[in-house]
Amino acid sequence: LRLYIPRDAAAVACGADEVAAALQVAAIARNLDVEIVRNGSRGLAWLEPLVELVTPEGRIGYGPAEPEDAESLIAAFAGDGAHRLRVGRPEELPFLKRQTRLTFARVGIVDPRDLDDYRAHGGLKGLEKAIALGPAGIIEEVTKSGLRGRGGAGFPTGIKWKTVADARGERKYIVCNADEGDSGTFADRMLMEGDPFCLIEGMAIAGIATGAAKGFVYIRSEYPHAIAAMNAAVDKARRAGVLGPAVLGSAHGFDMEVRVGAGAYVCGEETSLLESLEGRRGTVRAKPPLPAHKGLFGMPTVINNVLSLATVPVILADGAEAYRDFGMGRSRGTMPIQLAGNLNYGGLFETAFGITLGQLVDEIGGGCFTGRPIRAVQVGGPLGAYFPRELFDTPFDYEAFAARDGLIGHGGIVVFDDSVDMRHQARFAMAFCAVESCGKCTPCRIGSTRGAETIDKIIAGRDVARNIAIVEDLCQTMKFGSLCALGGFTPYPVLSAIRHFPEDFHRTPQRVA
Ligand code: NAI
Ligand code: SF4
Repeated sequence: LRLYIPRDAAAVACGADEVAAALQVAAIARNLDVEIVRNGSRGLAWLEPLVELVTPEGRIGYGPAEPEDAESLIAAFAGDGAHRLRVGRPEELPFLKRQTRLTFARVGIVDPRDLDDYRAHGGLKGLEKAIALGPAGIIEEVTKSGLRGRGGAGFPTGIKWKTVADARGERKYIVCNADEGDSGTFADRMLMEGDPFCLIEGMAIAGIATGAAKGFVYIRSEYPHAIAAMNAAVDKARRAGVLGPAVLGSAHGFDMEVRVGAGAYVCGEETSLLESLEGRRGTVRAKPPLPAHKGLFGMPTVINNVLSLATVPVILADGAEAYRDFGMGRSRGTMPIQLAGNLNYGGLFETAFGITLGQLVDEIGGGCFTGRPIRAVQVGGPLGAYFPRELFDTPFDYEAFAARDGLIGHGGIVVFDDSVDMRHQARFAMAFCAVESCGKCTPCRIGSTRGAETIDKIIAGRDVARNIAIVEDLCQTMKFGSLCALGGFTPYPVLSAIRHFPEDFHRTPQRVA
C-alpha cells in the first residue's frame, strides 16, 4: 500500500501525525506493507487529515481521518476501497476542479523532501530555461508575464529585478519574505511545506537574473514545519548541485540560507526585515533608498514574497504569454487566495484574477460554518478593509479593490457572520497596530493607542458622533503621516467598519473592560 498523508502544519494540527502512526500500526497488524509519503496539503482544510491511497485509477482521498478510523481504513484499502470517509479523486472535488493551479501545481502532489519527484513533476525546467536565457532574457520574460508582488503591494516583479540588475554593488542579495503575518493567510507556509524546491528554484532564477550569488529566506518562528521543510530542501538542493558555485553545472553561482524571525508583525515590512536579518531590532527604515539600491548590508537587494518567487519557475517553464493569458486588467496570472474564518469550506484556492468576492465566499467557501448569513468579509489581512454584501460583486483585482478603498494584500479572506460587532473589529485594528508598532513614527505609535481609547468611548456610548469624527480625523493623520504600511493601512479596517456598518457604532452602549 502506498499512502499520502500531509505533513502540512494545518493537517498536523488536525492530527495527521497520529493518523499516520495509527495506519502504520493497523497495516502491520494485518501483515500489510505500507509506505507513507508525507506530502503537503491539497488545501482542502475541512478534509484534513486527508489520507490518499494510490490506486490504478489515481489517488483516492479519505478524510477527515482520525486515528480511530485506522483499522477500518486499512481494511478498506486492502479490499474494495469503500469507506464512509471516501471522497473520491481529490482533483474531481469541485473545490479543486474549479482552480487554476500554477504556483501551487505540485503542492499536495509531490513528496516535498524528494528532488527526483520534484523533477518528475516539471521541477527545474524554469531554472534550465533561465540559464539558457541569461539575465536580460529572464528579466524580459518576468516583465512580460505581468507578475506583480504577491506580498500585497503588487509592484511589478520584472521592474524590481531590473532595478537590482542595473544597480552597482560589490555583492547583491535575494531575500525572500516568508514572514507571513497577515491574519487568515497561510499560502507562503503551505508552499514552503508542500513544495520547497519551487521556492529554491525561484530564488536561484532571481539570483541569476540580477547577479546575486546569495539568498536568504526569512521565515517567521511560528512556522517550525516550514523551517524544517526549507532547511531539508536547501540541503538536498545543495548536494544535487541545484545550489552552489555552479547552479546545474552552469557558470552561475547561487546559494541560500534559512533565517528565522522572532515574531514581530512589522518584520514583514521589508526594511524592518532587513534590520532583523542584519541582527538588529526590527524597526522600519525610511525609503529612499529603496532596498533595490541599498538593501541587505547596504547592497542592492531583491526582496520578494514567497509566492512571487515561487511563481517564477512556472512562468519561465511555460512562457510569459501562457501566464499573462490568465487574469484581468493589470492583474495578470493567478492568485493563491486563502479562504478563512467562518466558512464551510476554507482552504487554498488558486485562481485567475477576476473572480468576485461573492463567488469566493458564497459559492466556493459555501457560506458560514455557523449557518448564519455572512455579514462582513475582511480582505488583505488585519490592515485590509471590511466589505459588506453590497460590495460582493468586486472582482479580485488589485485596482478594483483599491477603487473601493480596499486591498487584496496577500490574498487572505476572513469571513464573519451576522453576530459580529464592527465596533470591536475597528477597535481590534487600532489595538493590533498599537501592539505591533515599531515605534518609529508618531502617527502610528501614539495614534493607534489614542484610536483604541476613542473607540472605547464609542463602545461605551459616550459622545458617539463627536468621537467617530475624531477617529476619522485620526485615521487621515495615520494614513498620510505614517512611515510604513502598518500605521498607514490601519485606517482601512477602521474606516470601512464605520462607513459600511454605521449602525454598529450606535448600538447599545457596552462596558469596556
Ligand atoms: P511599497 O508599495 O512601498 O513597495 C512595494 C515593493 O516595491 C517594495 O519591495 C519596494 O521596495 C519596491 N519598489 C517600489 N518602488 C520601486 C522602484 N522604483 N524600483 C524598484 N523597487 C521598487 O509597499 P510595501 O510597504 O513594501 O508593502 C505594503 C504591502 O504589504 C501592503 O499592500 C500590504 O498588503 C502588504 N502586507 C503584507 C503582509 C503579509 O503578511 N504578506 C503583512 C502586512 C502587509
Ligand atoms: Fe513603525 Fe508604525 Fe511608523 Fe511603521 S508606521 S515605521 S510600524 S511606527
